[in-house]
Amino acid sequence: MLREVHHVGIACADLEVEVARFGAACGLEPAHRERVEDQGVEEVMFDLGATSVQLLGALGSETPVGRFLARRGPGLHHVAYVVDDIIVALAHLRERGARLVDESPRAGSRGTRIAFVHPSSMGGVLVELVERGPDR
Ligand code: CO
Repeated sequence: MLREVHHVGIACADLEVEVARFGAACGLEPAHRERVEDQGVEEVMFDLGATSVQLLGALGSETPVGRFLARRGPGLHHVAYVVDDIIVALAHLRERGARLVDESPRAGSRGTRIAFVHPSSMGGVLVELVERGPDR
């Protein structure tokens, strides 16, 4: 039901500093940048083979990533897995007692549909489900 890793999300205290540092370390330019106002986040994607690394900057301290940074500091924020059908995947997890952050999917970047599953159901790590968009 959960397939390959789609991307790994990393919370950054200073997004531009980390984008420059990560890009230099990997020898890569960002593949995509997007401001997602309803999630209070700016994201920069680096594509590494079939998967991606998503650097996340908070748009304010009272956003999910802002609160995460205050509580835990910078670092691994979530792991995103590909699902074929996000409605089916959410129903599957709900039936098995998983605690869902999102009861229904919302729009992700690059035309994807996404939903988050609470860390308490997924080994202590926040999990994002991704139904792929047209390009990635
Ligand atoms: Co993500």
